[in-house]
Amino acid sequence: MTSQRLVRPEPSEFSHHWQLAPRTVFLNHGSFGACPRLILKLQWELRTSMEAEPVQFLWRHYEDRLEPARQELARFIGAESKDLVFVTNATSGVNAVLRSLHLQPGDELLTTNLDYNACHNVLEETARAAGAKVVVANVPFPLKSADEITAAILEVVTPRTRLALLDHVTSNSAVIFPIEIIIRELTTRGVDTLIDGAHAPGMLSLNLRALNPTYYTANLHKWVCAPKGAAFLYVREDKQSQVQPAIISHGNNRPRPGFTPFQDRFDWAGTFDPSAWFCVGEAIRFMGGLLPGGWPEVYQRNHDLVMAARRLLCERWQVEPPCPESLLGSLAAIPLPERFQSLTPSGKIDAEQLRLYDEFGIEVPFNRFGQPERRWLRISAQLYNSTADYEYLAAALDRL
Ligand SMILES: Cc1ncc(COP(=O)(O)O)c(C=O)c1O
Repeated sequence: MTSQRLVRPEPSEFSHHWQLAPRTVFLNHGSFGACPRLILKLQWELRTSMEAEPVQFLWRHYEDRLEPARQELARFIGAESKDLVFVTNATSGVNAVLRSLHLQPGDELLTTNLDYNACHNVLEETARAAGAKVVVANVPFPLKSADEITAAILEVVTPRTRLALLDHVTSNSAVIFPIEIIIRELTTRGVDTLIDGAHAPGMLSLNLRALNPTYYTANLHKWVCAPKGAAFLYVREDKQSQVQPAIISHGNNRPRPGFTPFQDRFDWAGTFDPSAWFCVGEAIRFMGGLLPGGWPEVYQRNHDLVMAARRLLCERWQVEPPCPESLLGSLAAIPLPERFQSLTPSGKIDAEQLRLYDEFGIEVPFNRFGQPERRWLRISAQLYNSTADYEYLAAALDRL
């Protein structure tokens, strides 16, 4: 069958704020986010100023734009600005922390089977270089309650566990970990926590003061909808002197009045385009201003939409939802129907995912994970999506 038989979904009332390709039904906000027009316009203006007066922009007045962005971010995530630095992505944040650790042979670094591959690689390399060991907690998925996550993690803690790398929201499986409880329990056991919150800001309400992790890194280019290259790293004050950025530059011996040595080291990583960082405050304001209830209404609307979509697809395919709705934000993983399970991998991107895009204009990821390995579809919901997008997806999948 062909896509002519399917009626393209009506765009949501908010979709005009984005410049996503009109031919695409974009159901993958989770991978790289998508930046609204107004924020891209601001970024363009900033870049114009940078190229008009590079030295003014990048050196003399650099902090005049950086610091307000940091202050607004601090308010948004419930942190002190002195404990925060911008980085270009969560991968850089994880690299900075892990590669700054002073490990002894036999030390253990804890992670879970649901962690993100790139960050897992950093953990492996850090452990290899120090003769330390990576210990993987086996979190069940599908799962029935948050307690199963906490129990799986605490079960593998030993006196040698130095640090746990934990996703706040997992990538392929899309589960929100109960990190408040996990951080508390690990801290009591003397284990440092590095929370990979790549998906968290803009998907759920964050309060780092209340969470009190040792380290927390997250993207702002995903659910806050800042331009690509906007992310942050929080380091608890007592650990800041030990953390070096992934890229060492001037800050190690050039202190600036009014900034901490931690900020000096991270604020400049060599010549680059800082316009994404400078847009962070406006992105927080813009997205939080689209609905009368502000950010809480954005979280709720996206959650409700992705839950309705998950119900629709699970009923259509007669599959069990793999976890309770309370463990999800605005992303959800759904097991693909049996007829998709036996197909063999066909390269970097699965053939069915390519067909959905080529034949129906749908951008949505297919993933493989779990023991035994299963195939999953991961859907995202952002303000530019509507229920009709997921009905269209369900109808298109029926035709594959
Ligand atoms: C849990 C998790 N960690 C880290 C990342 C990496 O993000 P980035 O490529 O922006 O560094 C992702 C990206 O999707 C993720 O889902």
